[in-house]
Amino acid sequence: MNILVTGGAGYIGSHTCVELINSGHEIVVVDNFCNSRPEAVSRVKSIAGSDFPFYEMDVRDEEQLGRVMEEHRFDCVIHFAGLKSVGESVAKPIKYYDNNIGSTIALCKAMSKHGVARFVFSSSATVYSGGNVMPLTEDAALGCINPYGWTKLMCERILTDFAAAEDWSVALLRYFNPIGAHESGLIGEDPSDIPNNLLPYISQTAIGRLDKLHVFGDDYDTVDGTGVRDYIHVVDLAKGHVAAVGYCAEHTGVEAVNLGTGRGTSVLQLVAAFERMSGVKVAYDIAPRRAGDLAICYADPSRAQRIFGWSAEKSVDDMCADAWSWQRQNPMGYRE
Ligand code: NAD
Ligand code: UFG
Repeated sequence: MNILVTGGAGYIGSHTCVELINSGHEIVVVDNFCNSRPEAVSRVKSIAGSDFPFYEMDVRDEEQLGRVMEEHRFDCVIHFAGLKSVGESVAKPIKYYDNNIGSTIALCKAMSKHGVARFVFSSSATVYSGGNVMPLTEDAALGCINPYGWTKLMCERILTDFAAAEDWSVALLRYFNPIGAHESGLIGEDPSDIPNNLLPYISQTAIGRLDKLHVFGDDYDTVDGTGVRDYIHVVDLAKGHVAAVGYCAEHTGVEAVNLGTGRGTSVLQLVAAFERMSGVKVAYDIAPRRAGDLAICYADPSRAQRIFGWSAEKSVDDMCADAWSWQRQNPMGYRE
């Protein structure tokens, strides 16, 4: 298929571009580099061993989007482009609503005009409200506690309504906690600031860019008192998108689908796995709980298995080994 990938220079988008090309799809990538670098696109091309058209542009620019849609005939759009920092979304909510919802609406309009009827959307486990029992099925109660989460839930709503009106096929992919990197170590996660997320914080501590990890709370009702999450290898997640694209080609309507492993890992278990796979000791202290954090969050991934025929294959050890390989080969990310 011919696929438009928005945000393809970013962490998940870059890995997905590699898997789409490996699966025989033709891609066109757009990104405005507000949270990524051109080097990521070059590296995707070198891993995949093939070239593809790239446009540096804001997805909200309807005129430019229209030109891209006229130059190429697309069968499907995968929409990664979006802002993702929970803390920044609380401080700058309009920036988040404008970018995340504005880009989705601009795409819907352009797709409708150009007869593109398949949409794969980057949603998040953050759309599930607190108080659900684990594991989370797609039917669990929805609700958010920050503007970032609301942008995802609102986009899910917009796409659901649009799909019904236009007879589209839409996959709302609710990611759990993507970590790790491509096995080549050429592409990976490259936070532009001090990382908010656990694994980049661990690996930047291990490489010496940060002094020590702060473990946010050790008094939760979990295996060792620290928070439990469903970490998924970013390459497994990328393959989940390839499966979703295949599903959309054969069905119409909307499906919300969890992309997770169904397994929970605590903060200290992840630290231990990272130390084992890297051979480096990770200094940490115990800090107060972080506001808004759940004790435990993991997926029921059975719908993805049933309808996409996809399930995650890689272990937490694989995730740590690949994250470390990326960090070791690129201590400053793409900046060198
Ligand atoms: P990322 O920041 O690495 O990638 C997003 C990309 O989109 C970046 O390259 C950025 O420059 C680009 N972008 C943002 N706004 C744009 C715009 N208006 N026009 C053009 N390009 C734009 O983030 P990621 O981790 O790869 O996440 C991809 C998507 O998945 C995001 O929508 C994010 O909200 C969602 N998601 C991520 C996680 C996670 O833990 N990483 C979890 C759940 C959902
Ligand atoms: N943690 C630490 N120290 C850190 C960072 C995180 O102890 O420096 C802990 C957290 O308290 C949590 C676990 O590590 O228990 C994972 O935290 P992350 O920030 O890596 O991931 P979250 O599950 O909190 O957040 C992710 C996405 C968000 C999304 C949220 C809800 O990054 O975008 O899931 O689905 F909103």
